[in-house]
Amino acid sequence: MKIILDRNAGFCFGVKNAIAETLKTIEENKQKKVYTYGPLIHNKQVTEELRKKGVIEIENPAEDMGADSLVVIRSHGAPKKIFEDIISKGLKYVNCTCPFVSRIHRIVEEKYNEGYKIMIAGDKDHPEVIGINGWCNNEAIILDDEKMVDKLTYYDKICLVAQTTISKNLWHRIKERVKDKFKNTEIFDTICSATENRQKSVADLAEKVDAMIIIGGFNSSNTLKLYEISKNICPKTYHIETAEDLLKENLMKAETIGIAAGASTPDWIIKEVIEKMQDFSNENIMEEYEKSFKSL
Ligand code: F3S
Repeated sequence: MKIILDRNAGFCFGVKNAIAETLKTIEENKQKKVYTYGPLIHNKQVTEELRKKGVIEIENPAEDMGADSLVVIRSHGAPKKIFEDIISKGLKYVNCTCPFVSRIHRIVEEKYNEGYKIMIAGDKDHPEVIGINGWCNNEAIILDDEKMVDKLTYYDKICLVAQTTISKNLWHRIKERVKDKFKNTEIFDTICSATENRQKSVADLAEKVDAMIIIGGFNSSNTLKLYEISKNICPKTYHIETAEDLLKENLMKAETIGIAAGASTPDWIIKEVIEKMQDFSNENIMEEYEKSFKSL
């Protein structure tokens, strides 16, 4: 059994920063309560670790926070009103919104104020999309499929942005349909480069191997996209959250196995998966793994 680790596996810089800032905030504010606006990242194991350190998840900071406390705004960002309410009540926050997401907030707010109809290509239930919509008075049209465009009434001025983790193919289809239907469109490709690079490298890796393992939260949008991309190329693709989900029978006949992970998957979970794979194999795959991990 040979394993190849995706060169982009693991935390993206936005998630790394959010976790580092949260740990620093806990350390520097030992006498205070630390909250996060929703789960900090889409990874159950990481949020459980934070809970053990006393961090509490809340959905409504201005209502739920006490006076001597602070709230961390997650990398997915938050609607404008959440910031306004926190500030108006004199509460404190640490803003860990990823810069790629903050850029979308700025675009959407500016274009909304200029009279553009805002459209977001993405998942209406994803916190990032809910946050973006909150920068244009929650009036955006959210498109998760290009066919939705055909049913829209006509708007004079359109501003279209993308959820940072949307798949490149879906974005392309939605963008083309919007351009065909509306004359005056301003389109901003706001897919983040970390997502784009990871999707490309997963597709490349899926071409080369007999089976693929995608590690990441079952609720993580970017992990699910990686799974779809890989499954289309390599039918033996398996999405797992931790080493416990790994099934030996799925990998028995595979000589070469690719391993990729979503942007919110910590290194220690990747390592545990590979350690478990070592139990299935007579060869020293850990050595190979250490080499590929060092070269990341
Ligand atoms: Fe930011 Fe992209 Fe990660 S938007 S949080 S760097 S997936």
